[in-house]
Amino acid sequence: MAIEPVVYGASERAPRGDYSRAAANYTCPQNHAAYTAADHDTYRRLYERQSALLPGLASEAFIAALPSLGIKDHIPRFEEINERLYRATRWEIVAVPGLIPEVPFFTLLANRQFPVTDWIRTPEEFDYIVEPDIFHDLFGHVPLLFNPVFADYIQRYGQGGLKAMKLGGLDELARLYWYTVEFGLINTAEGVRIYGAGILSSGGEVEYCLTPGTKSRHIRLDIERCLRTLYKIDSYQETYFVIDSFQQLFDGTAPDFTPLYEKLKHMDVLPANTLLPSEVELLPAPH
Ligand code: PHE
Ligand code: CO
Repeated sequence: MAIEPVVYGASERAPRGDYSRAAANYTCPQNHAAYTAADHDTYRRLYERQSALLPGLASEAFIAALPSLGIKDHIPRFEEINERLYRATRWEIVAVPGLIPEVPFFTLLANRQFPVTDWIRTPEEFDYIVEPDIFHDLFGHVPLLFNPVFADYIQRYGQGGLKAMKLGGLDELARLYWYTVEFGLINTAEGVRIYGAGILSSGGEVEYCLTPGTKSRHIRLDIERCLRTLYKIDSYQETYFVIDSFQQLFDGTAPDFTPLYEKLKHMDVLPANTLLPSEVELLPAPH
């Protein structure tokens, strides 16, 4: 599993990248020459293992765009990906030393720049890493930036994040990122598929999240409900919110959230394994 931005489940530990290389907006050059043979090998093995798991489980949009990352047998250069990405959706990826604070994070997204951690996990961390590395950020997030609607949603999320900070809605909004961008599922004619980066870059959760009979639930995404729902940062998710389309995310986040944040201040948060009386589980599971 992988954990996302600073704000979102920030740990007590100091982040592990070298921040002395970063500019004021926290971006840095991708020092491609600094990767070792072992780094490239870790990337190659992660890519190989993960891409083999995805047929029939990952969303079609993700699978179709995965080859746009280019080279699979070593860590790619961001410039090469950017040539394709900018042409596709006018997004670009920028290198960062690791997790970055909310304001630069949201500002980059609002400017259609996606921060990608430039270091890779050690071989010992092959199956599990507690903070995002280049494999999670590139493999998990970048393919869907090639999808025009999803790409617009991420930009809007960045704008919404800057606004939520002023309105005291940051914790709430972070839950939406978590349950969509990181751990989202999408309903298709062929069945439920994965689009969340935290699942797609995880060796175990790809299969787990679509397996019936676990203690985890699938429920239809309702934005207000999602904003109230706590999440797990150190285990598989107990709830997966299912969308019908990326357009649903884009349209659902178009309204002004100011009254929503106000309303939520008077409502309880919900534990990660909540099922409300009105809700139906899409993947019936014995609990
Ligand atoms: N539309 C929301 C607002 O006005 C912001 C938002 C955008 C929230 C995208 C989530 C995703 O505050
Ligand atoms: Co992520």
